[in-house]
Amino acid sequence: MKQVIKTVFLEKDRLFIIDQRFLPQSEKIIELKNESEIYEAIRNLSVRGAPAIGITAAYGAYVSLASYSSIKDIEEYKEKGREILEFIGRSRPTAYNLFYVIKKFKAILDKSHGTDEILTEWKREAFEIHREDLFKSDEIAKYGSPVIGENAKIITHCNAGGLATGGNGTALSVIFKAHEEGKRVFVYACETRPMLQGSRLTAWELEKTGVPYKLICDNMAASIMAKEEIDLVIVGADRIALNGDFANKIGTYSLAVLAKYHGVPFYTAAPLTTFDPDIENGDLIPIEERDIEEVTKFRGIYTAPENANAYNPAFDVTPNRLLTGIITECGIIYPPFDEKIREAVKGN
Ligand code: MRU
Repeated sequence: MKQVIKTVFLEKDRLFIIDQRFLPQSEKIIELKNESEIYEAIRNLSVRGAPAIGITAAYGAYVSLASYSSIKDIEEYKEKGREILEFIGRSRPTAYNLFYVIKKFKAILDKSHGTDEILTEWKREAFEIHREDLFKSDEIAKYGSPVIGENAKIITHCNAGGLATGGNGTALSVIFKAHEEGKRVFVYACETRPMLQGSRLTAWELEKTGVPYKLICDNMAASIMAKEEIDLVIVGADRIALNGDFANKIGTYSLAVLAKYHGVPFYTAAPLTTFDPDIENGDLIPIEERDIEEVTKFRGIYTAPENANAYNPAFDVTPNRLLTGIITECGIIYPPFDEKIREAVKGN
């Protein structure tokens, strides 16, 4: 599939991203120059979505370390490299892709003998992670598209498209592929409170690709499932445990429960870089809690009393028993998940 959006890119050793906070009003490209700017861009959602966070961290670690050319001692240089990785790793806790990158980059530090070697290897690895993610998006689309029938009505949540990855997405790439194949699909995009990734980003991508859709508030999904013939729900994932429990944008679990009740197949789509090989089940996935002002304010204006007590977990965990299948670049993993996931993530 042709790549629709360039979300993150390194050009002449300078790192650029689309600042997603300004979408859909404007496609503003910004440069990230050092670890503080990279940390902040991930934390404030200028760049978001598990694979895109990983790719930005990879290019970002390289660009940041490159600016410390005054450090000549190899041990000191390695220490700076570890410091940068740990700092960027504190930006957001849930998306496993970030920690996948950090692990890979730390391994390079451990086995390198010279400062130039580290920089060359980090740069090569960053490009490789990006290139592989683009390829994985296409493979996910290829394996996922057969689960979408002619005239399918699909519900999705948050944004798991090109803006969230290095290619055309995970859940959305499956939908784009089915659309490209002429299946006349129709998408219900949940707006995704509180940060509106569904309305700001998914609707924008669906417009760009010409996929017919209707934007709905999150609390409309139940009645739409009851009234319409919804054929499937497909979402992305931020971290998948070995037993198939997975974290994704808050509200995903409610959709999974609704899908079960209404007998609608429920899929998640993700590259293997989103699977955490060290976590047995979803209870162990760290869930980010964000500033409550994301709930009490909208674009700077209070929509609740200023002192309102609020709760803002960014993700929830969907238990494996609600999942029909996990669409990956190696095919669809169906239940029972344990052994098959263990086999798939060997070496992650
Ligand atoms: O808080 P966000 O916008 O980073 O959350 C993103 C999601 O929950 C996506 O569904 C997930 O990262 C998968 S992206 C292919």
